Amino acid sequence: MKGQNIRKLIAGVMGAAMAFTATAPAVHAVAPGDVQLTNKTTATQGTLVYESDFESEDDLKYWANRGGDDTTKLSISSDDAKSGSSCMLASGRTESWNGPSIRLDSFLKPDTQYYFSASVRGQWYTNCTLSSQFTVDGEDSYNNIRQNIQAQSGGGNGWATIENIPISYSTGMDAAYIYFESGNNEDILVDDVKIYEAPHVDIEADIPSLSELYKDKFIVGTALTPDDLASQPFMDLVQKHFGESITVGNQMKPDYVLNKAKTLAYFEETGDDENPVISFSQAKPVLEYARKYGIPVRVHTLVWYSQTPEWFFKEDYDEKKDYVTPEKMTKRMENYIKSYFETLTALYPDINFYACDVVNEAFQNDGSPRQKGHPSQANQYEASDWVAVYGDNSFIDYAFKFARQYAPEGCKLYYNDFNEYMDKKKAICEMAERLKKAGTIDGIGMQSHLDVRQSMDAAFPSLGMYESALKDFIATGLDVQITELDVTVQENSGDKYFDVQATYYKGLFDIYEKYSDKISAVVFWGVTDPKSWRASQNPLIFDKEFMAKPAYKSIVGSRTAPDPVRTTIPGGSVTTTTTTTTTTVTNTTTTSYCYEPFFWGDTNCDENVELADAILIMQALANPNKYGEKGTDAKHLTAQGKMNGDVDRDTEGLTGNDALFIQEYLLHIRETLVPSTR
Ligand code: GLA
Repeated sequence: MKGQNIRKLIAGVMGAAMAFTATAPAVHAVAPGDVQLTNKTTATQGTLVYESDFESEDDLKYWANRGGDDTTKLSISSDDAKSGSSCMLASGRTESWNGPSIRLDSFLKPDTQYYFSASVRGQWYTNCTLSSQFTVDGEDSYNNIRQNIQAQSGGGNGWATIENIPISYSTGMDAAYIYFESGNNEDILVDDVKIYEAPHVDIEADIPSLSELYKDKFIVGTALTPDDLASQPFMDLVQKHFGESITVGNQMKPDYVLNKAKTLAYFEETGDDENPVISFSQAKPVLEYARKYGIPVRVHTLVWYSQTPEWFFKEDYDEKKDYVTPEKMTKRMENYIKSYFETLTALYPDINFYACDVVNEAFQNDGSPRQKGHPSQANQYEASDWVAVYGDNSFIDYAFKFARQYAPEGCKLYYNDFNEYMDKKKAICEMAERLKKAGTIDGIGMQSHLDVRQSMDAAFPSLGMYESALKDFIATGLDVQITELDVTVQENSGDKYFDVQATYYKGLFDIYEKYSDKISAVVFWGVTDPKSWRASQNPLIFDKEFMAKPAYKSIVGSRTAPDPVRTTIPGGSVTTTTTTTTTTVTNTTTTSYCYEPFFWGDTNCDENVELADAILIMQALANPNKYGEKGTDAKHLTAQGKMNGDVDRDTEGLTGNDALFIQEYLLHIRETLVPSTR
């Protein structure tokens, strides 16, 4: 997931957004036959829902050329074609992010997995990127979906074809596009676009749930990014095996959470340059999912050298200026951590944020602090802005102090690192002992990005080396969590070494069981091999067909475990019912995680439910500036009121439907407003 860095707007957010809006197609419903929408089904790809060969002007519908100068346009060109006699030509590009884009939410369904295929070429040289742009709560985010799309022959200036690239968008996104871009400002040509809707795939129902198997020992979880949510079989696996803990793969990291535009606006308005502004809009799809299914969340990560914007450390929030003093940075850090947790818990009061990686990867392998500098600069990918400001690793103690002060109750605080079994383990333990004395740390996170290569002898680390590090961490008296588990095999070796990988995974889980009273969670870094950040080394326990690999089978062995039936009760409550059947007896146990922090219906928070609550909802919808959450009226909505009023618990937040529910309740048409008992 490291590669999915948010693409920063070079020419300023507003400029780009405006340039884009000017050329963006309007949202409209698709009339059948409007474009070439077809309905052919194939067994492997699913149903063909969109096809364009750019043989006529009609094929340009849904497409727009983002950015560019006055000459920018999309046209049908017969100068070249991958097939037939013409293709789509995007001309007038002036920036790398300009190019042909297609708006997904104008004709595809949300939360649905599609596969995208197309041919593309640059005018002189083909090296394109397929990217996405999503808008959530008015904030844009950019992701590279596939980079280095290059022609295979002809000196790099021919057509390149990409096939079956997973694409999707989620409910709650205001706009969703995919587009081609390229470092050269030359024309881009596109031909033969096809979009398939992924077929329904049944996951294996008759194998035990991993989280259920270990439920008396430790939590089993995984990491998710918003685009995972659209894949039905993927999410079925999450629900079945990893539904006890979710880590947001990228979108809760500083790069995604620190909002530069809002921070600068606040600074300009107030002159205060110590209060960065936080936003969780990019994590929202995953957090909404966690809320809906009552799944606890690991917060990852507050303070890190990587995926953290350089401007955060600089005078006036300007990358080109000097680093701020340690004193100013400590103030910025405190306000950042305070606002991080305040914003998070106000938005999601019913999510159990049970753990947090306060500091990630502060040590080099030999245990020394990182070099001074920003990691994206040439030859210093491992450098740290934190060290550049403080001169050493003293920022760690501040980070834990502030995290302890501002994290919600019950949120345990961890130091998290990779290569944690190397020499740095000594430095980690020393730091942990010091923080333990200060009362600011609860545990150590072992990332556990491990590598078995092609044999147990070649494995790094060996199981012995790994167990010895685990024992050292346990000896600190702190809790241990396995936070990002994956075990690679040799690059591009397919399934050749899956048995060796299975032996290694079995060895790991034997170790985890042996020390299970000291390990509170085992979290995998992903679910299926092709979605892993190390996909070419197949590191996970489910394969590209969503089937259990030998690694899963070796962990589970001959054990059978009852399969939990997860029932979701809107409002953040989850009931897990486990049924164990023997020949004569059936035992049913029910565990309820019930968070009911709401006074349902009490939108104006006066501890009553009356017509005024329904009226406030309608007022806030009609006039958000006056009655909404940031409204000016004395009786405007509060964050708590917003939660209380959302009695239908849909994904839209407060709507007219909630006002209707409240009125029906007051008229005794509805017995209760408590969602879990409706
Ligand atoms: C580290 C980070 C994770 C993630 C992985 C790679 O382990 O802690 O957040 O970026 O690298 O995906």
